[in-house]
Amino acid sequence: MRLILIGPPGAGKGTQAQRISENHDIPHLSTGDMLRSAIAEGTEVGVQAKSVMDAGKLVLDEIVNNIVSARIDEDDCRDGFILDGYPRTLMQADSVSTMFEAKNIGLDAVVELQVDDDALIERITGRYICASCGEGYHDRYKHPEVEGVCDKCGSTDFKRRPDDIEETVRVRLFTYYKATSPLIGYYFALRKLRRVDGMLGINEVAVGIEDVLSEL
Ligand code: AP5
Repeated sequence: MRLILIGPPGAGKGTQAQRISENHDIPHLSTGDMLRSAIAEGTEVGVQAKSVMDAGKLVLDEIVNNIVSARIDEDDCRDGFILDGYPRTLMQADSVSTMFEAKNIGLDAVVELQVDDDALIERITGRYICASCGEGYHDRYKHPEVEGVCDKCGSTDFKRRPDDIEETVRVRLFTYYKATSPLIGYYFALRKLRRVDGMLGINEVAVGIEDVLSEL
């Protein structure tokens, strides 16, 4: 199964992609995570991406197209994958078509997570992760079982993303509506679009997605 998850920042793409990945045994490919790894490793791509990401803008199409094309050629993507945060512009969407055609693979569906702006801001500004294993938490919605200790790896070190401050989140939202939301119509026209209510709780959204996937 090859899926694209689309939705504004904080819609729950990463959270749900992780669940789909576990349920269907296919890798979760997040361009945001790949770019953050490149920044942490200090690669040329990372150096180019850092200031753009910190400002809430989009990294150049060519850079992300190349990263994704190389990643989906890897062995673990042979039986499918979930793209989270890619494509994000019409040019990237065209690249997906060209790329998939060249690799002789098909796209099963584009799942849109629909969430109100106020909820997005609250979700993102309250988010933090374990600095050691990356497990995600939220000031209001998801606390570690023992306060200050990661459920997954026991670390006591947590961090927040530099682009998760409210001012930058508003730029990211604007960027989404301007550059990415036209993809909803694009994939609707291609009959690939499936919509899921992302305002529900994490488990309920996961059920909504599985319902959609079972109908493919
Ligand atoms: P990226 O990392 O992709 O960020 P994003 O799209 O802004 O999305 P987020 O990761 O913030 O949110 P999400 O939808 O995954 O939500 P999550 O599950 O974490 O991209 C970062 C940057 O990289 C971009 O701004 C850009 O600069 C660059 N970039 C990346 N891809 C690019 C591309 N293709 N082209 C160009 N540039 C690119 O959930 C958020 C919080 O809410 C969590 O705390 C979670 O626990 C909580 N939560 C989730 N679901 C629910 C729920 N149902 N109810 C309550 N809380 C919930």
